[in-house]
Amino acid sequence: MKKIKFLDLESQKDRLNNTIELNIKKVLEHSKYIMGPEVKELELRLQKYTKAKYCVTCASGTDALILSLMSLNIGTNDIVICPSFTFPATAEAILITGAKPYFVDVGLDTFNICYKELEKILEKDYKKNKIKAIIAVDLFGLPANYTRLNKISKKYKINIIADGAQSFGGGLNNKKVGSLTKITCTSFFPAKPLGCYGDGGALFTDNKVISEKLVSLRAHGKGKSKYEISEIGLNSRLDSIQASILLAKLKIFNWELKERNKNANLYNKELKEYYHIPEIPKGSSSAWAQYTIRTRNRDKVLNFLNDKSIPTMIYYPVPMHMQPAYRKYNKYKNVLKNSLKLSKTVLSIPIHSFLSNSQKEYIILNLKKAYKLI
Ligand SMILES: Cc1ncc(COP(=O)(O)O)c(C=O)c1O
Repeated sequence: MKKIKFLDLESQKDRLNNTIELNIKKVLEHSKYIMGPEVKELELRLQKYTKAKYCVTCASGTDALILSLMSLNIGTNDIVICPSFTFPATAEAILITGAKPYFVDVGLDTFNICYKELEKILEKDYKKNKIKAIIAVDLFGLPANYTRLNKISKKYKINIIADGAQSFGGGLNNKKVGSLTKITCTSFFPAKPLGCYGDGGALFTDNKVISEKLVSLRAHGKGKSKYEISEIGLNSRLDSIQASILLAKLKIFNWELKERNKNANLYNKELKEYYHIPEIPKGSSSAWAQYTIRTRNRDKVLNFLNDKSIPTMIYYPVPMHMQPAYRKYNKYKNVLKNSLKLSKTVLSIPIHSFLSNSQKEYIILNLKKAYKLI
């Protein structure tokens, strides 16, 4: 049996049979490295895939979050709600605009923002706290509950931003991530469901005004012409080489998604008696960026799997409200119990599309053996 990798970008590249090399070569030939034809083509392809009216690519998932907040004029004195159990970029983007994060808890089985707690906070704090937006994170690939979140948005007139960095390809009620709420941000970091060979990101919206603002903001705030500056913006463009790589990878994207779903179903079936498995609510589909189980005796399981050469990851060992740089923003005395519990019990195992049957069997067998130890 071949060595098990947590992520297998080499096999992915082999399966694409030189398409990536050929696409890069085309860019080298036309040499339009910034905003070349591949960038426009990719935006159109992603628009079609997600059925969002507009797609604006940018330099990273983090920039997509910053740009989304800027496009809504969110900044100093504003408050933006986000889950504590997330990757740092979610909260970092809020602070970079000058706004303050308001951390809330997540559900134990979906890992996503808890809308019940959200409603409680909004009932209590809405007016005095200047809450302007909620960034919902689609953790590990599962879209947050946008049905509820969009209702909350209407009721309290608060913008919803989807941090879909991990969920491109996922969906809810027959709609794809990208068209589930007002603005969706995604990341093309290599390990993401759709990843390039460097940094990259994109935003999706159905709102023409927001999309035009994003196009301006990602290029220094350009106005009608390049040197008429109508906004304070950023330099955040996706480059043509990365776009050409993403175009190649789109060819096998749906196949990869299907394989990860099959792997998740197999893990669910085999592991549900032994570990807490991820919950996929009715009508939702996950992009399975990660397959994450929970166990009280994580260290023992980790060590056992490590001895068997099965790679694992912990996403995330410390929730944002307990991070040294962010602790001071947890001024609302929320204990965020689930986020704390998850940080001590989660464990992600390989789920990529290139795992062989024997590798999957080996992972399952050893997780069952590890259970006996705990
Ligand atoms: C939930 C989440 N948000 C934002 C980001 C930031 O994306 P990027 O690394 O492309 O800046 C990531 C990337 O890991 C992420 O997982």
